[in-house]
Amino acid sequence: MKLCVALDLAEKSDNLALAHTLKSEDIWLKVGLRSFIRDGKPLLEELKAINPSFKIFLDLKLHDIPNTMADAAESIVALNVDMFNVHASSGRKAMQTVMQRVNALSNPPIVLAVTALTSFDNASFEAIYRTPIAQKAVDFATDAYESGIHGVVCSAYESLDIKAHTSEHFLTLTPGIRPFNEASNDQERVADLKVAEAQKSDFIVVGRPIYHHADPLSVVRKILESIA
Ligand code: C5P
Repeated sequence: MKLCVALDLAEKSDNLALAHTLKSEDIWLKVGLRSFIRDGKPLLEELKAINPSFKIFLDLKLHDIPNTMADAAESIVALNVDMFNVHASSGRKAMQTVMQRVNALSNPPIVLAVTALTSFDNASFEAIYRTPIAQKAVDFATDAYESGIHGVVCSAYESLDIKAHTSEHFLTLTPGIRPFNEASNDQERVADLKVAEAQKSDFIVVGRPIYHHADPLSVVRKILESIA
């Protein structure tokens, strides 16, 4: 299991300072919408300059018509990131088109599909999709798997079931992790490290429990020791 630290801080300098603090650790860094819209490609380059071994997950959750998504995916691959994602609800055609385009390029990154955002509780999810989260997450994951996508973003509680319905090699990345039962903030379906491990999550995403802590490096080391 790999740790992916969410760089969701208010300023570029804050994100870079956090990366500096964590520069000797074997971690992935997740660059999300706010940071990428504000700081763009230079941020990615500066993160790699801090430690070339940092792996970067560009979390932009693409959702559009197939050709627009494939064009965007091609531009993302040109950024040399190690992983990016799309929404599974964009449909099989869109995911297949993205994967055809990405696989034709040299050094294609890992591509994940978002199933159900972990901020959804069952009632608000069903209000949109008319299906319980657990069922729909498996359906979305199956669509993604059969479209050639490498894995999904899902809650830790769905990881094992998704692997059972697809493949044990189909990757799961699980946000909403509160490693040692910290405050859940706006996340509805939080899980701790034990749940993530029991559910065979391949990547855990942790943001606020790390960057809101007075000593982020100590939290990261404690997590890495626990999942080693
Ligand atoms: O601070 P926290 O640990 O809750 O951060 C979780 C991160 O994972 C945020 O950047 C959020 O956008 C992202 N994320 C999520 N749920 C998803 C996909 C991404 O929380 N399904």
